[in-house]
Amino acid sequence: MEYAIETEKLTKKYGELTAVDGLDLRIKRGEIFGLLGPNGAGKTTLISMLCTMLEPTSGKARVNGFDVETQASEVRKSIGIVFQDPSLDDELTAWENLDIHGELYGMRGGAKQKAIENALQIVELYDKKDELVKHYSGGMKRRLEIARGLMHAPAVLFLDEPTIGLDPQTRRHIWDSVRKMNREKGVTVILTTHYIDEADVLCGRVGIVDHGKIVACDAPSKLKTKGESLEDVFLRLTGSDIREEKASNQTMRLRMRAWNR
Ligand SMILES: Nc1ncnc2c1ncn2[C@@H]1O[C@H](COP(=O)(O)OP(=O)(O)O)[C@@H](O)[C@H]1O
Ligand SMILES: [Mg+2]
Repeated sequence: MEYAIETEKLTKKYGELTAVDGLDLRIKRGEIFGLLGPNGAGKTTLISMLCTMLEPTSGKARVNGFDVETQASEVRKSIGIVFQDPSLDDELTAWENLDIHGELYGMRGGAKQKAIENALQIVELYDKKDELVKHYSGGMKRRLEIARGLMHAPAVLFLDEPTIGLDPQTRRHIWDSVRKMNREKGVTVILTTHYIDEADVLCGRVGIVDHGKIVACDAPSKLKTKGESLEDVFLRLTGSDIREEKASNQTMRLRMRAWNR
C-alpha cells in the first residue's frame, strides 16, 4: 500500500455549509504533508473525518488502507492524533499520562515502559518525566501531547495546529520533534497550520485549502513562482479578506472525549 491517505470526493456539510467540498487527496507513506489554509477553510473538519471523529456526508477516505467508515477501529489503531484542545491530566506526571495512554492501547509491562521512554526522548522531555503536568509550560504540554500521539507507534500522525500560540523557540523545538519521528520512525505526518513559514520549512508538500477545496498541492518550492514567497502564493490563491473563525472548540472537545472512550 503506497498511500497513507487516499480520499475520493470527500465531503462534509454542516446544514447549508459545505466545509469540505469533494476533496481528492493522496498522501504517500513517509511524507510530512501540510494542510495550509485560513481560518474556516475546512482543515480541522478534513482531518477529523480522516481520524474517524466525524462522519463524511459523502465520498470516501482510506487511511493506511482502511476505510474510515467501515474499518474505523483499524484506522484508529493505526493513527496518532494531537488536536488543539489540551487533553492531558494536569494532576498527573508526564510519565503517568503516557502510562494511561499505553494501557488504553493494550500495552503492558516492559513494552509499555520502552514505548514511554522512546516517546519522551523524541520530544526531549525524558528528564522531566516525573514532574506534574500542571508545572509544565504550554510548549512542554504540547510536546507531551505529541509524545502521547506517537507512543503506540502509529503509521500516521495527525497534528492540528501543533504550534498555535507558542513562542518561536518552542515552535522550532516542535518542528525538530516532528522531523525526528518522521526520519527515525518513518511516521507519515499530516499537519494543519496557518503559519506559512512552518509549512515551508517542515513539509515536503503542502495542500492549500480554501472554502473546503484544495486550491493547490505541491512542494513549497514548486508552488512559488519567480521571486514569490510561500506567503505570496497563499495570498494569491486565497485572497486577502480577513476570515472569522466560528468557535467549534466545544464540539471538538466533546468529540475528542467520545473518541478517547
Ligand atoms: N460543528 C460544526 N457545526 C457547524 N459548522 C461547523 C462546525 N465545525 C466547523 N464548522 C464550520 O465549517 C467550516 C470549516 O471549519 P474548520 O474545519 O474548523 O476550519 P479550519 O480548521 O480550517 O479553521 C467553518 O466555516 C466552520 O465555521
Ligand atoms: Mg482548525
